[in-house]
Parts: sequence; C-alpha cells; structure tokens
Amino acid sequence: MKLQIILAILAISCTTEGANILAIFPYQGKSHYIMFEPLVIGLARAGHSVDVVSHFPPKESIRGLNHISLQGSLYTFVNNMTTTYVKSLIGTKAIEFISYQGPNDLCNLMRLHQLQEIINTDKNYDLMLTQVLGSNCYLALAHKLKLPVVNIETSTMFPWAHDPFFESTYPSFIPCQLTTFTNDMRFMERVENLITTLYSKFLFYYYDKTVSEPIARKYIDDFPSLADIYYNISMVLVNSHWSIHGARPTNPAIVEVAGLHIDETQVLTEELEVFLNSAKDGVVYFSTGTMLKSDSFPKEKILAIYNSFAELSNYKVLWKGNMDNMPEGLPTNVKMVPWVPQFAVLRHPKVKAFVTHGGLMGTLEAIHAGVPMVGIPFFGDQMLNVGGYAYRGFAVYLNYETLNKESFSEALNEVLTNPKYQSNIARVSRLFKDRPLSPLKKAIFWIEYVIRNGGETLKSSGRHLYWFQYYLIDVGLFLLTITMLAFVVLFTVSRKLTGFIWGTQNRNVSVKQKTF
Ligand SMILES: *[C@@H]1O[C@H](CO)[C@@H](O)[C@H](O)[C@H]1NC(C)=O
Ligand SMILES: *[C@@H]1O[C@H](CO)[C@@H](O)[C@H](O)[C@H]1NC(C)=O
Repeated sequence: MKLQIILAILAISCTTEGANILAIFPYQGKSHYIMFEPLVIGLARAGHSVDVVSHFPPKESIRGLNHISLQGSLYTFVNNMTTTYVKSLIGTKAIEFISYQGPNDLCNLMRLHQLQEIINTDKNYDLMLTQVLGSNCYLALAHKLKLPVVNIETSTMFPWAHDPFFESTYPSFIPCQLTTFTNDMRFMERVENLITTLYSKFLFYYYDKTVSEPIARKYIDDFPSLADIYYNISMVLVNSHWSIHGARPTNPAIVEVAGLHIDETQVLTEELEVFLNSAKDGVVYFSTGTMLKSDSFPKEKILAIYNSFAELSNYKVLWKGNMDNMPEGLPTNVKMVPWVPQFAVLRHPKVKAFVTHGGLMGTLEAIHAGVPMVGIPFFGDQMLNVGGYAYRGFAVYLNYETLNKESFSEALNEVLTNPKYQSNIARVSRLFKDRPLSPLKKAIFWIEYVIRNGGETLKSSGRHLYWFQYYLIDVGLFLLTITMLAFVVLFTVSRKLTGFIWGTQNRNVSVKQKTF
C-alpha cells in the first residue's frame, strides 16, 4: 500500500518535473520566435526535456533543450521586408498571407528529414507546444502522437483562437485583430468589426480545409479533420494583457502572458551607455523591428526624418538600421547601429520617446520600461496596437502615407513636450507590471498544469450547447413569443370587453332613442 502511494507520488512528480515536451515552430518570422525562445529555455531550466523545431538555433547549448534546426529551409524575413511589400498585407489580405500562402511553405516542411523523424518517432512526449498562426497542419502530428496541445499566440487573440475553448469573441467591444478599432466602437464600427470577425473566421477554416489539410495528409495519414483536432486544443498562451488591451470575460484556458519575452537581465554595451549618457535633454530611440528594413523607406521620407532629427539639437537619436543603403547626410546627433539590446536601451532613464512600427514585442518592452511612443504602423496587428496605445493616451499615431518633415516633427514634439504622454505611460506601465507571477512563470505553471491534468476541465461549460442556446437566442425568442402572445391576448380581450361595454351603451342609447 505504502509502496503504491510512493509510486503514485513519484509518477505525478515525474510528469510535472521531468516532462518530455515537443515544441514545433515552423514559421520563419524572427519576431515571433522572440517569444518562444525564452519560454522553451524557461521550460528546460524548470527541469523538462524540450525538443524544439525552429529556424533559430540557440546561441549556446542549454541543458534539457534539444534544438532541431530548420535553418536554411525557407527564406527568412529577418530584415527582408520592404515597405511596399508589407503595405500590401492589409486587413483580411493578411489572412490570405498566413492561411493560404503560408501553409504551402510551412506545412510542406514536413517533407524534411528533421520532421519526418518526429512524425515517425516512438519517443513518449507529454505535450506539444506550437503556434497556430494561419494553419493547423502541425496539429495532425499532435493527433498522431496523441498529445495535448498548448497554442501560443504572439499577438492578441486571432478571431478563431477562442473557438477551441467555446468562448465568444465579443465583437461588441473587442476589436478584431485586423481592424484599427479600439474597445470603444461606434455603431458602424461595431457592424464592420462583426463582419470582419466572421469573415476572417470563415477564411481561416476555409483555407484550413482546402489548403492545409491536403498538405498534411501527404505526410500524416489517418487523422480526422484538422478543425476537429483544433477544437481539441487544451490551452492558449496569448501575448496580451488587460492593462493595454482591455479586460474581457475569459476562461481559464486562455492565459494572458504579455511581456513573457522581456529579458530584465539585458545590459547595454559600453559604447551605447556612453552615447545615451551624453544626451543633454534626452534620447529618441527609433526602430522598425526585426523584419522591416528602415532603409527601404523612400529617400524623401528618410531625408524628412533626418531633417526632423537634426532640429532636436539637445537630444540624441539612436536608430536601429543598416547604414549601407542609407542616403548621405545623417545628422550628427544621430547614431545608427545594426543591432541594439532593445530593452536595456528603452529602460535607460535618458530615453524619452520610442519611434516604432508598432510591433507588439517592441511596444510591450516600451510599456514595461515606461517610454511613450510615436507609432508608424505598416501591417498585421500594428495598426491595432498603435491605435490602442493612442486611444489610451501614451502614443501618437503617425500615418506612413502622410509622413513628412512637418508631421514627423509634430508627432515627436507632442510626445516629448506634452506631459500627458509621460504620465499615461507611467500609469499603464505600473498596471502592466502589477501581477502575482511573472509572465514566464505563469506560462510554465499552466503548461505543467495541462501535463498534470489535461485541458478538458478548463474549457467553457457552455461547449455542449448549440450556438443559439449559448447566446440564449432560443430563450430570447421564447420570452418574446410569450410576451407577444400575452399582448395579443390582452389586446383581444380588452377589445372584446370595450366592444361589449360600448355595445351595451349603444344599446342603452338606442333604447333611449326609441323611447323618445
Ligand atoms: C527575401 O524574401 C524573398 C521572398 O519574399 C526571397 O525570395 C528572398 O530570397 C529573401 N531574401 C533573403 C536574403 O532571405
Ligand atoms: C484530443 O486530445 C487528447 C489529449 O489531450 C488526445 O488523447 C486525443 O487523441 C485528442 N483527440 C483528437 C481527435 O485529436
């Protein structure tokens, strides 16, 4: 008996303390991997054994982390997106990019021996971590290996990300990721938001069925539809937080971990330290992220930015970019470097403003560090991010199309001189950081929870209902019918009654008339 108890305890502690985790990240966008890397390293440090498939090998070997590299199998997006190209990926076009064009590249990576070995493995894994970006094809692998799945959303929730948990997307106050709305929508915006939400869900499932599923069946046989496996996902870790995206009804399987990628141990190089400290009034930091080339801006826009920076003579500007393709005439107060330890720069007390393309990873770092922003969004969720920050009063939204010397200077001066931006970002930064557990610890806790308990109990209790029951449409119709019936009855009865009374009166009248 005692032995059984000890064995049972051992079994439990084994699954949580030393689980075998399979992490599959086939997407080649570096900005997404910025969130996955600290998570898989964190899991390895927590004593798990993690097999990671990705395009980004770790810089040093880490105990418990076995990296299976896809490097070189696809073109990479690192510094490889021009402004014209990304500008074409607006709205639901973005879904066509990630759910139609994407799967052809990503799902077909299953042909590679690295993935073939995993498909045919007899290793016992306990859980699969992956990113359902626009395609579900790697879920077929989870089904084959019978693994519970934790999905990681590097953005806020895609409209279809709620579906496995039978949770509404609340289009009345949650802006669809592909719109530019905030939590505060006017009537016509809510109409557009609902239509965009439903249409993007339709596209996702349509491409999933017609593009991803046939590719997955080439490499993995015998699975139900990808949508069925998708609905079986146990949990989603999402890169959002109520302090910046608005609080919403949710369920325990939707776990907010925004800021998970932020590395508080990051330090400045000595050269940068000296440069930042040399600023008189402060420093403006300018970066357009890991994917977008700032040297692909048209020359007149770059010159406009040069002129604007040159006027900030009491400020220094740190610009992350590649000097090689830039026009002549970089102002003397500007330093351009190809790479920076971004969070260390942002939290330096001299840094007063961040000019950004509005990518979520960088802007979360600025929020954590308390730096107000000028956002020049390009594609994907960038418009939504910058729009939301402007709505919350700690960023200025600058339109790329109308960007010139005047508009750029005006936006920058507004953020540097109007104290409202500083006080708003200070408040939001405090709210963003006020949590019981760091986002990384929280993510690890919930992944271990799924390994211990599965995901079934976390799903909405509403999942057994039909949609018209979930939204109480049947009950509403029933109550409406009863109310209408009651009115009809009341109306008929009262008509009969008045008719009766009038009738008797009339008769009385006519009787009277007769007597005259
Ligand atoms: C950049 O991306 C394009 C596809 O958009 C690809 O053809 C090209 O090889 C990539 N360049 C590099 C350096 O990866
Ligand atoms: C659903 O997930 C469980 C693990 O959480 C797995 O055992 C089962 O096979 C999955 N079902 C389908 C249809 O994939």
